[in-house]
Amino acid sequence: FDATDPDLLHDRVPLPEFAQLRRTAPVWWCPQRRGVTGFDDEGYWAVTRHADVKYVSTHPELFSSTTNTAIIRFNEHIQREQIDAQRLIMLNMDPPEHTRVRQIVQRGFTPRAIRGLETALRDRARKIAEEAVAASADGSFDFVTQVACELPLQAIAELIGVPQEDRARIFDWSNKMVAYDDPEYAITEEVGANAAVELIGYAMNLAAARKECPAKDIVSQLVAAEGEGNLRSDEFGFFVLLLAVAGNETTRNAISHGMHAFLTHPEQWELYKATRPATAAEEIVRWATPVVSFQRTATRDTELGGQKIKAGDRVGMFYSSANHDPEVFEDPDVFDITRDPNPHLGFGGGGPHFCLGKSLAVMEIDLIFNALADALPDLRLAADGPRRLRAAWLNGIKELRVSSR
Ligand code: HEM
Repeated sequence: FDATDPDLLHDRVPLPEFAQLRRTAPVWWCPQRRGVTGFDDEGYWAVTRHADVKYVSTHPELFSSTTNTAIIRFNEHIQREQIDAQRLIMLNMDPPEHTRVRQIVQRGFTPRAIRGLETALRDRARKIAEEAVAASADGSFDFVTQVACELPLQAIAELIGVPQEDRARIFDWSNKMVAYDDPEYAITEEVGANAAVELIGYAMNLAAARKECPAKDIVSQLVAAEGEGNLRSDEFGFFVLLLAVAGNETTRNAISHGMHAFLTHPEQWELYKATRPATAAEEIVRWATPVVSFQRTATRDTELGGQKIKAGDRVGMFYSSANHDPEVFEDPDVFDITRDPNPHLGFGGGGPHFCLGKSLAVMEIDLIFNALADALPDLRLAADGPRRLRAAWLNGIKELRVSSR
């Protein structure tokens, strides 16, 4: 059993196996990983309890992020361009370097900055829902391509001030970068890497243009004048790359899983339409846990859950398992949109890398389901179940056929 095996995640998230591990071997040595992040033959520690996932996340001095990355396979290709992706992406940094970059980019994600996007994104969500109404007039449609895909990309484009005429290109590069593990998309690593290089180049040009002529967007704020408190152009390029990976497919899958959860729990959909509880988005993220796992590497010999971890050992934090831990959640297998409090780890375990886009993601989920509840209240499943994505660390839905008749 290897919970990073794309063939397994293609089929399902192994919740029963996680439950067994939490009970019998909560920190368990998995001797071989079949995941596709480049460490195919190495073993890793599978960390499955909520408390232990939090511990690993909040102790970067013991568990480093510098050799962790979901984008590692691109790195070999990108390196040909003389850029070290591994080093420039903040997800792969440890403090104090990470602290420096995080403090800068956080300026673009203040509550005020996110609130500033709300009106544009609400209009966009309504438009997406209206287009779905039109699609439903012809019968069933695919919720993923018709609804879930667009808002996360529009949100990132809005955030960094990408002009409308460039958005189709940005969307195309972003989609190519995240699809490469699933053979059905026929996207090779090379195509994914080329898309990444083009996106980075685009973002660096955008940064240069804003430096010349600042506008009211986060690019202008982050790169205004290079120096201590600002990003270099190459750093900005990789930041946009990270946003396109971290903020795109995660939110898309939260929306798709959320719809699927509503349609398979009709009483929750009725409750949502009647009361629109503010707690719904967080429960959707707990329930979906789009990021199944991330990994760290032990910096020195240490102990976790009674196990001796050696320096250099890889440690996989299974957010999906933590989010179903009965030590923390009452009835963890129940989808309850009024769950409160809801200390789930879907956005990470609370350490320095905690999801930068959390409030944006929550806002997007709220906006899209509000728009759908108004425009398509009678939505129902039009096929047996979703078609799942083949991926090593994502709980992904590729297709979800729905109809409103
Ligand atoms: C980091 C999940 C949406 C930007 C992360 C992490 C997780 C996560 C699990 C790693 C946390 C850690 O290692 O401790 C999600 C989920 C989302 C979502 C489930 C949607 C439902 C977004 C959005 C954005 C974003 C919309 C931005 C547009 C980032 C960034 C990081 C990150 C930049 C890296 C932060 C750092 O290294 O300091 N996210 N995310 N995410 N996320 Fe999100």
